[in-house]
Amino acid sequence: MSTSFQNIRGTFDILPDAYSDDGGTRIAPSAEWRHVETTVRDVMRRHNFEEIRTPILEPTELVARGVGESTDIVQKEMFAFERGDTQYVLRPEITAPVVRSFLQHHLAQRGGVQKLFYLGPCFRAEKPQKGRYRQFHQFGIEILGADEARADAETIAVLMAICEALGLSDLDLRLNTLGTPERRAEYVEALRGYLEPYSDELSETSQRRLERNPLRILDTKVEHEQKLLRDAPQLIEFVGEESLAHYDEVKGLLADLGIEYEEDPRLVRGLDYYTETTFELEHPGLGAQSALAGGGRYDRLAEVLGSDAPVPAVGFAAGMERLFLALDAAAVDRPESPTPDVFIAALGDEAEQWVFRTTQELRTAGLHVAHDLKGRSLKAQMKEANRQNAPYTMIIGGNELEAGAATVKEMESGAQEEVGFSELTEVLGRLVEAQKG
Ligand code: HAM
Repeated sequence: MSTSFQNIRGTFDILPDAYSDDGGTRIAPSAEWRHVETTVRDVMRRHNFEEIRTPILEPTELVARGVGESTDIVQKEMFAFERGDTQYVLRPEITAPVVRSFLQHHLAQRGGVQKLFYLGPCFRAEKPQKGRYRQFHQFGIEILGADEARADAETIAVLMAICEALGLSDLDLRLNTLGTPERRAEYVEALRGYLEPYSDELSETSQRRLERNPLRILDTKVEHEQKLLRDAPQLIEFVGEESLAHYDEVKGLLADLGIEYEEDPRLVRGLDYYTETTFELEHPGLGAQSALAGGGRYDRLAEVLGSDAPVPAVGFAAGMERLFLALDAAAVDRPESPTPDVFIAALGDEAEQWVFRTTQELRTAGLHVAHDLKGRSLKAQMKEANRQNAPYTMIIGGNELEAGAATVKEMESGAQEEVGFSELTEVLGRLVEAQKG
């Protein structure tokens, strides 16, 4: 079958079977996505997080202000459009939307600290490549209303617990502190002052950043620029005592939990809302797009979005596509796609009718039952049973209908058992249970 339509570059379909995309990257089948999502939900529940779901469409101004005008996301990567006099954006991330929702619905009034998790698609108009898509999927958490270091440590602990539950090890956790926005602004000026005399030697991107967002130059991969930065003023020298004490406490709590990390004074992250602790989780199997997850504290975001009162907050988000790349690189076992418990083949019109009705009854009783909708030959039906990998099959024809009984065949061993129709649900249920057990 040929079609003139293709999915948009940088997006992909999730199918019942695994396949390779144009770049040769394996796209996991839907059963594996479900397995990862179920694991995420289970770990979130154990850590006492509640789910929040926000719209994919948000006001553009929310993202511009929340993520920051000078960031790459807002400058070049937003899928934004206008309809009537409303400016829409396909959300590029979920932190600003969660804070919007928290403020709009006065979630602080529920009392205590709000521990929220989410899972869903995000959109960024980036250049598609391995591990970098235009529609990708994040899961993450936001802890709102706690300025304690314990909230930072718990954020990282949840992320590590999810990776562990999925069987992923070999992770590198990088940690830094950005201090308060006031101290950081002082640092930015010092950095700018240091780099300006070298401005001609900088790449075009870094020259642009020198004007708009000098901190991001710390992320540079250009060797010459990295060399220049060696003698540049260090952010940590500008971070205040309170921030350092908070950072020390976070590190102490992580050590207490046995979570290993490496300090990286250059880890500034690509979103403007961060204050104090920032972190990224990397996996060696990921290549150029090495970040599996990132996050940190963003104590001022609520006020930037219009809150009268400060809402200290911390969170992380992880990329599902990158998680699959890491799971593939580490060859971690994943569940197979589910197969039917039993395939029921029919011979003749009357049997077809009986099979159609009985199939629905068995399904109501909880069994996963397959049959043929097209009234094909017995040979074709058995071929289909094979393709679908059903462990048990039954063939219903005139003789079976007359006897009120049929033979259930276990495909692997060839073992057969005669079953009366009246006890079909019970016997099939027992066989399937035994098979699974
Ligand atoms: P982020 O670092 O921009 O942070 O994104 C988090 C994760 O999303 C990345 O580590 C990566 O795994 C994945 N990701 C980002 N862009 C793409 C893309 N184009 N294709 C595939 N995966 C991608 C945030 O979004 C913050 N909201 C995290 C946060 C939550 N901070 C505090 N709370």
